[in-house]
Amino acid sequence: MKTDLLNTIGMSRENIEGLLESALRFKHGDDVSKPLAGKSVALVFFNPSLRTRASMQVGIYELGGNAVVLEPGGTSWTLEYREGAMMDADKTEHVAEFVRVLERYCVALGVRTFAPLKTWQEERTDPVLNAFARYASVPIINLESAMHHPCQSLADMLTIREKLGAGRKRVVLTWAWHPKPLPMAVPNSFALAAAQMGHDLLIAHPPGYELDEELMDTSRKLADDSGGSLEITNDIEAAFSGAEVIYAKSWGGKEFYGNSEQETITRARYRRKWIVDEEKMARTNDAIFMHCLPVRRNVIVTDGVIDSAASVVIDEAENRLHVQKAVMAQLLGE
Ligand code: CP
Repeated sequence: MKTDLLNTIGMSRENIEGLLESALRFKHGDDVSKPLAGKSVALVFFNPSLRTRASMQVGIYELGGNAVVLEPGGTSWTLEYREGAMMDADKTEHVAEFVRVLERYCVALGVRTFAPLKTWQEERTDPVLNAFARYASVPIINLESAMHHPCQSLADMLTIREKLGAGRKRVVLTWAWHPKPLPMAVPNSFALAAAQMGHDLLIAHPPGYELDEELMDTSRKLADDSGGSLEITNDIEAAFSGAEVIYAKSWGGKEFYGNSEQETITRARYRRKWIVDEEKMARTNDAIFMHCLPVRRNVIVTDGVIDSAASVVIDEAENRLHVQKAVMAQLLGE
């Protein structure tokens, strides 16, 4: 029976902590095993990437394996994912064949497929990623889908633990203004993992930028089970008080999916207020500043904050490499 990493929903806290321990062993050179020796892993990118692509390629190499990088519509054929589709338009190959061919060469497939931000009810089901998982008999690793970015959230949890030690922390996930709507995979996965790790999570966003209701209910329950908490506020000024972690991210409002022009107009009012700056950071309990990157300087966060000692964004990016090695060693090792 294959195991996928599509999100962290089904993972126990012990499982996550085990992955973080494994990641630290890789990071500190205490684990130099090569569980991918003689094996290849396909990395399928429908969208651009710096960190995910580079860290996966390097991680596969360091585990003794070979990465096969494919970009549907670029370096490989355009792909259809819908079952029963009449393929008489612009799509050349179906995921059914794409996956079944690749798994004759590769022991796993990593997939990056962003939300197009067109149809909320459809995209919240992660249709493209789930098509890969449905057709594949080898593990699928989510490299950021419409709804989840588990490799990022695991690296985030590792970074919090490294910087602040193990145990419950006061964590704030804050929405930030950005000139255009962005997917919500990163905040979803961060909220979920922070809840699973038993942190006290406060999510700050303007009205209309609620994350997925079902996922928030799940996260709240997981937080309760882990001894943590999950609260939501529309007050960014109050949110920073006493925080030990500030995690900034912008995302699009569900009601604006398919209407990005209207959203751009609506969100303009939040530009000056919803930014992480020195004044807000001064109200925290010496919080670290986190962002998944790429980040727009002086839009999401000021130069003064991202260049300060509080900023851990580069260590956070480095930790992608170590947690992904831990994930691949667990999923693909003998
Ligand atoms: N954080 C992250 O996934 O970065 P990339 O989009 O560059 O891969």
